[in-house]
Amino acid sequence: MSLDLQSLEKIPRHVALIMDGNGRWAQQRGLSRIEGHKEGAQSVRAVLRAAAQAGVEFITVYAFSTENWKRPPAEIDGLMKLLVHSLNEYEQELHDNNIRLRVMGQFEKLPLPVRMRLQKTIDATAHYTDHTFVIALSYGSRMEIANAAKQIAEKVKAGEMKLKEIDEQTITDHLYLPDVPDPELMIRTSGELRLSNFLLWQLSYAEFYITNDYWPDFREEQFFHALEAFNGRDRRYGGVKKK
Ligand code: IPE
Ligand code: IPE
Ligand code: MG
Repeated sequence: MSLDLQSLEKIPRHVALIMDGNGRWAQQRGLSRIEGHKEGAQSVRAVLRAAAQAGVEFITVYAFSTENWKRPPAEIDGLMKLLVHSLNEYEQELHDNNIRLRVMGQFEKLPLPVRMRLQKTIDATAHYTDHTFVIALSYGSRMEIANAAKQIAEKVKAGEMKLKEIDEQTITDHLYLPDVPDPELMIRTSGELRLSNFLLWQLSYAEFYITNDYWPDFREEQFFHALEAFNGRDRRYGGVKKK
C-alpha cells in the first residue's frame, strides 16, 4: 500500500460505489463479459477489506440496476450465479471482519435460489455492528422514491399521517434502508460521468470521485487513493469556505 492511512484526517462513514467497466475490461483481453464480472467480484472483496482497514463503516455497491434486466439473459444468469458463488466463497470474510450484509432493491424480482442464498448470509451477519456491506440489487433510485411516495400517500389516506407533517426526513424514512446514513463519497469506475439511477436522493451532498480504471482494476490501492482525494475536498454544504 502506497498510502499512509494514518495521514488521513477524515474517513467517510459511508462510501457508495458504481462498479462499472467489467465488460470493457474483458473485451480488452479478448475474454467474455462474464470473465470481467468474475474479476470484478475480486475487486468487491478487496474494497471490503480496504474499507474495514480504513474504518469506513458502510459500503454500498451497485451490483445490478433495474435497467440491467435489459441485458442478454445469459449475462443476467451469469451475474446471478456469480453472486451466489461469491457469497459461498467469501462469507467467512464477513464474519472475520464483523461485516453485516444488507440488500437494497427489488428483492422479490431476484431468482429464488439467489434470494435464499442472500437471506442466509443476511441472517447470519445481522448481529454485526462494526461494518455494513450493502448490495444494491435490481435497484433503481426513481423506483425507490416513487415507492416511498406511494407509501406516504397511503398513510395520509388512512389518516396515519398528516399532509403537513411530510418533510425530507419522511421521504428518507420510506426508502429501502432508512437507518443507513447518506454516502459521503461516491466512486464510479470506468470514467462514465453519470449516476445511472443510483441513490439520487441519498447522494445529494456526496463528493464524487470518478476514475478511468475499470472496476476489475480497482483494488485496495485505488480505494485508498479515493479516500485521499476525499480528504482534499472542501465540503461547504452551501455555506461559506472556512478559513
Ligand atoms: C458493471 O460492468 C457491472 C454491471 C453493470 C453488472 P459493465 O457490465 O457495465 O461493464 P461495461 O460498462 O459494459 O464495460
Ligand atoms: C450502472 O452501470 C449499474 C451498475 C453498476 C450495476 P451500467 O453499465 O449499467 O450503467 P450505464 O448503462 O453505463 O448507464
Ligand atoms: Mg457499464
